[in-house]
Amino acid sequence: MKILEIKNLCKIYGEGETKVDALRNVSFDVEQGEFVAIVGPSGSGKSTLMHILGGVDVPTTGIVNIAGTNIGELNETKLAIFRRRNIGLIYQFYNLIPILNVEENMTLPLLLDDRKPDRALLKDLVEKLGLKERLKHLPNQLSGGQQQRVSIGRALMNHPALLLADEPTGNLDSENSKEIITLLRKFNRENNQTVIIITHDERIALAADRVITIEDGMITRDSKRLGVMAS
Ligand SMILES: Nc1ncnc2c1ncn2[C@@H]1O[C@H](COP(=O)(O)OP(=O)(O)OP(=O)(O)O)[C@@H](O)[C@H]1O
Ligand SMILES: [Mg+2]
Repeated sequence: MKILEIKNLCKIYGEGETKVDALRNVSFDVEQGEFVAIVGPSGSGKSTLMHILGGVDVPTTGIVNIAGTNIGELNETKLAIFRRRNIGLIYQFYNLIPILNVEENMTLPLLLDDRKPDRALLKDLVEKLGLKERLKHLPNQLSGGQQQRVSIGRALMNHPALLLADEPTGNLDSENSKEIITLLRKFNRENNQTVIIITHDERIALAADRVITIEDGMITRDSKRLGVMAS
């Protein structure tokens, strides 16, 4: 099943002398359960693409279809709800709420959506993420790797159709990066979770089923690895 279809995405920032063509006619599909790495030089449009896929920015032209919904047709309120229910976002700098503890950070998006957190899922994620002994800790009482694991947990609490990560290991040392990749791979394999990761990290690209290269706002390579997976 296609979980993501994007067609002819263009994103133009600014105008006149400061005009930037950040994305030029980007089209691709992602099947449910794929683990996709997006690579490319700095400024090539990766984060722009991620923001559009996550519904936090809109394209200048083009279509984004997620799990059968054309998100460009949703009004602001509906888009906010759609995003909370279907997209899990992970950033380089965790974006945890400093005054909320681990458990509260993980369940906040559901509470904002007036939904009861699935306690069994919470327990399962907390265990898999190695956070059992840290549930009542605040973000500043955690290591970088632990904070990133909380943000992964928060992203997975709503059973997202798409898990999107922008440089999730960019702020971590090699040991913690490895652990994060292994965890994302595990959630991908065990739950058929679709994952799209922007990365400069060679090891993530090697662990992916598919690597899409973006240069100067365009896809210049899209390679699927068949069978050989180096996680
Ligand atoms: N809000 C903005 N206003 C104007 N130009 C922008 C804006 N955001 C990004 N750009 C420009 O769009 C282009 C793509 O930026 P983007 O952040 O998507 O790159 P990236 O591939 O994520 O780079 P990096 O690897 O450094 O994170 C860049 O040339 C950038 O300067
Ligand atoms: Mg970026």
